[in-house]
Amino acid sequence: MKFLLVFIFEVGLFVSDIVKSSEFRQEEITSRTRRSTESSSYFFYQQPEYPRDCEEVYDQCDDQSADGVYLIKPESSPEPFEVYCNNSIDGGGWTVFQRRLDGSVEFYRPWNEYKNGFGFLRKDFWLGNDKISYLTNQKIYELRIDMNNVNGQPFFAKYNLFRISDDRTKYRLVGLGDYNSTSTANNDSMNHHRNQSFSTYDRDNDHSSYTNCAEYRHGAWWFNDCATSQLNGLYNAGSTDFKSIEWNSLPGGHYHLKYSEMKIRPLQ
Ligand SMILES: *[C@@H]1O[C@H](CO)[C@@H](O)[C@H](O)[C@H]1NC(C)=O
Ligand SMILES: *[C@@H]1O[C@H](CO)[C@@H](O)[C@H](O)[C@H]1NC(C)=O
Ligand SMILES: *[C@@H]1O[C@H](CO)[C@@H](O)[C@H](O)[C@H]1NC(C)=O
Ligand SMILES: *[C@@H]1O[C@H](CO)[C@@H](O)[C@H](O)[C@H]1NC(C)=O
Repeated sequence: MKFLLVFIFEVGLFVSDIVKSSEFRQEEITSRTRRSTESSSYFFYQQPEYPRDCEEVYDQCDDQSADGVYLIKPESSPEPFEVYCNNSIDGGGWTVFQRRLDGSVEFYRPWNEYKNGFGFLRKDFWLGNDKISYLTNQKIYELRIDMNNVNGQPFFAKYNLFRISDDRTKYRLVGLGDYNSTSTANNDSMNHHRNQSFSTYDRDNDHSSYTNCAEYRHGAWWFNDCATSQLNGLYNAGSTDFKSIEWNSLPGGHYHLKYSEMKIRPLQ
């Protein structure tokens, strides 16, 4: 009996240590589990629990200022995956799914690459539409977009809901909340994209009858009859080039943004 209690305690420690778990450790837990089930207790079937988003990482961390890359697993995701957590703005706990920093990564890419994600989590990247879909369908998430205009001045836009559907339904922007009035980005430039399907140059799901918007605007987005925002555009474009990264009506000029970061957090 004493042995069993000690064993339960030990396994309990493993379970609580799960944020740092490696595959090796999981295997160790599993093999211990297998052995112990022979001695009857269903308790040991418990699976490791990954945090489901950066908000849960943030709540579990001792050092809450630790921005960076963490392993999470949203409820319906078949596998855990890495995300970048930004804890240094607006209360922290933000799961970042897009960043444009220096143009080092090409964003003019086909459907499958937007589906699976590309780039580098600490620099320029798109997390991947499947992952964004798993994330945004497990809780109610708010969206925050930070942007720097062509002169490097910062602005942000915030919405109290963000949700996209799945691959089969073309990652449609099914949930976009109200544009928060504290936003500094001047205009609700996502509004035009409500309920639009995602389009890439090789998957034209837009509402334009005369052009392939992804090709025309050199990006990938929830294009309508093209765009009033398009943060996946060309990085090194001229300041009036409509192929560039755009947020309509941004103070200082709506093309050729120098920086963007899109991120979500469960609505409090
Ligand atoms: C967090 O987000 C803000 C706004 O996008 C950005 O300025 C800051 O560098 C980010 N922090 C980290 C550590 O990534
Ligand atoms: C707008 O944002 C502020 C600050 O984050 C928040 O307190 C407020 O509840 C938000 N308003 C709406 C309508 O979501
Ligand atoms: C703000 O955005 C709306 C919808 O995207 C657009 O119709 C309107 O012209 C924009 N306002 C300004 C001042 O640009
Ligand atoms: C969103 O788009 C779908 C598919 O085109 C359509 O069936 C649905 O009615 C639209 N919803 C809203 C609220 O416009």
